[in-house]
Amino acid sequence: MRWTNKAKIQKACALLPGGDVLYRQIQRRYGRLNADPFKRLPQHAAMLRRLHELGFRVEGARCLEVGTGHLPIAPLAFVLLGAAEVVTVDLHRRLDTELTTEMIRRLVAAGDEIAELYRGLVDPARLADRLAALAALPSGSPADLRKVHVHYAAPGDAARMPDADDTFDLSFSMTVFEHVTPPALAAILDEARRVLRPDGFAAHLIDPSDHFAHQDAGITRINFLRFSEREWQRVGGNEFSYCNRLRAPALERLFTDAGFAIERRLPTVDERSVAAVKRGFPVHPDYRDYDLEDLCTTELEIYARPRAKVHQR
Ligand SMILES: C[S@@+](CC[C@H](N)C(=O)[O-])C[C@H]1O[C@@H](n2cnc3c(N)ncnc32)[C@H](O)[C@@H]1O
Repeated sequence: MRWTNKAKIQKACALLPGGDVLYRQIQRRYGRLNADPFKRLPQHAAMLRRLHELGFRVEGARCLEVGTGHLPIAPLAFVLLGAAEVVTVDLHRRLDTELTTEMIRRLVAAGDEIAELYRGLVDPARLADRLAALAALPSGSPADLRKVHVHYAAPGDAARMPDADDTFDLSFSMTVFEHVTPPALAAILDEARRVLRPDGFAAHLIDPSDHFAHQDAGITRINFLRFSEREWQRVGGNEFSYCNRLRAPALERLFTDAGFAIERRLPTVDERSVAAVKRGFPVHPDYRDYDLEDLCTTELEIYARPRAKVHQR
């Protein structure tokens, strides 16, 4: 579908009463909203391996997810790997119980694939026991998820958590930070630093690409950088698709300003976008000071630790 048509549909749904329900139905029928756990698990496994290399141990950890979305795939993956508890917080109560129930069924049915994905990260016998515990859940409702120590906190704001200081081992998110305004991001990171233990970790997978390019092959992943902020909000902005368009250096600065030390950054540069810029893609003046790599980074993993707390040890 041409991206401009999708933007118009989103805008129309955003204006209608009950438009969020309608938009979810459209996403389920024509979009990418489905129960497949493997749309997220490989990225999550990669995140786990990198955290493991940095010294994080998931067994017994208390984890905080920022931005659950419709399906708690990553929280359940952490449970399979031995986390003691995962709190998953979202501003909106979007968790889809029907899809989550089906997603759990598929997870359990794919036991061999899961074991392969997490080889070396978890004892296979324990993994099998935890898959059996998931299989025994009556459904994927928030109440049933609590039985495996996944606590769905929605509506809730990751910038204002009820938890005491120094009580989480990990704060993480998957494709959330690109959807949050810069001041709200600063507040989320301040709060993460407060609730993380001094030796805790932050791990965030960010998708700073033009999300309309995920479905429209006619545009590149940096297409939205041709617009001024005002034009972009007029054309592409609505409650379902807000994107801050922050490039990697600005995202990383938010972490360091909030008192995190970045231990590892993994940018993925989109070569098609690089080629487009070289051919004269009209980058808006707001973005002209970025170098080509930062401009065309369309996936970014950031691994960080609370700076002052590390020094206190
Ligand atoms: C793109 S969706 C999440 C996708 C999901 N993590 C995944 O892996 O597919 C982004 C979510 O972040 C949530 N969110 C945004 N700001 C937040 C905040 N301050 N606290 C908690 N959740 C927030 C939104 O409500 C939205 O449901």
